[in-house]
Amino acid sequence: VLIIYLNGVYLPYDQARIHPEDRGFLLADGIYEVIRFYGGRPFLQVEHLDRLQRSADAVRLPLPSRDLFSRVIDELLTTNDLLSDDGTIYIQVTRGAYTPRTHWFPAGETEPTLLIIARKSAPMDPALREAGVSAVTLPDNRWDRCDIKSIGLLPNVLAKQAAIDAGAYEAVFVRDGRVTEGSSTNIFGVLNGVIRTHPADNRILCGITRNHALRLAAAQGFEIREEALTREETFRCSELFLTSTTSEVLPITALDGRPVGTGRPGPMTQKLYEAFQDSIAENGAANPAD
Ligand code: PDD
Repeated sequence: VLIIYLNGVYLPYDQARIHPEDRGFLLADGIYEVIRFYGGRPFLQVEHLDRLQRSADAVRLPLPSRDLFSRVIDELLTTNDLLSDDGTIYIQVTRGAYTPRTHWFPAGETEPTLLIIARKSAPMDPALREAGVSAVTLPDNRWDRCDIKSIGLLPNVLAKQAAIDAGAYEAVFVRDGRVTEGSSTNIFGVLNGVIRTHPADNRILCGITRNHALRLAAAQGFEIREEALTREETFRCSELFLTSTTSEVLPITALDGRPVGTGRPGPMTQKLYEAFQDSIAENGAANPAD
């Protein structure tokens, strides 16, 4: 049975209990992170833990030390025999359990709820990656602090489900005529040979995979502009792709039912995906524990 970490204790998954009035459950008063591991090694963990700290600071949640997160992640990967597997580490921190329910922060010592789960994930269907995925545009009706990785994901959930209902893989949010990001991904386009993506401001989650892809693109010598694409411009892009911890670099080959470019994954997207895979291999090789 899977061993997880909850509030200072390692315990079997089926014995974990969350308080019925946890503020995460009642108010979505919490933040989270999803970290990928490949061959049992966390990928871009420092960047993810840095972002967790930024989210925590933004919502005034105290976090345990960086060291604790690293130790717990290592312990979960080892205990659960995941050291040669690929999967995800889910971290959630909420403002804890207090009764009765209030909107304001409870007085006195705040005792956050901390949950960490590491588990294996199934590899993505290679046919999906080969053909690329379809996406649909939807109005971005979220708040103006999308840079915080909040567990308040209702607009994202509704957008993703609307995409699925339309037979698509992802919903692409559009605000004031400009593409912001996907419901759980960042969006990139290639227009006139230049890679374009929304700047890392309050309108998007600054994706760890986004930043990594931008570094890899720069190393390839690709021209990059962190300037949002209008919805109209996306239809003139020769390539579109999305990035996220779980989807990596994934081509979008149809948008709102229209083919993107040739309707096949484009060469720059392919190059970036290959560079991404190389960087995963280097992540493995760089660790002297082997
Ligand atoms: N989603 N934008 C949003 C709104 C997201 O929720 C995510 C991540 C991203 C991509 O960020 P990153 O590259 O750091 O994963 C962009 C995670 C994986 C999730 O909710 O499962």
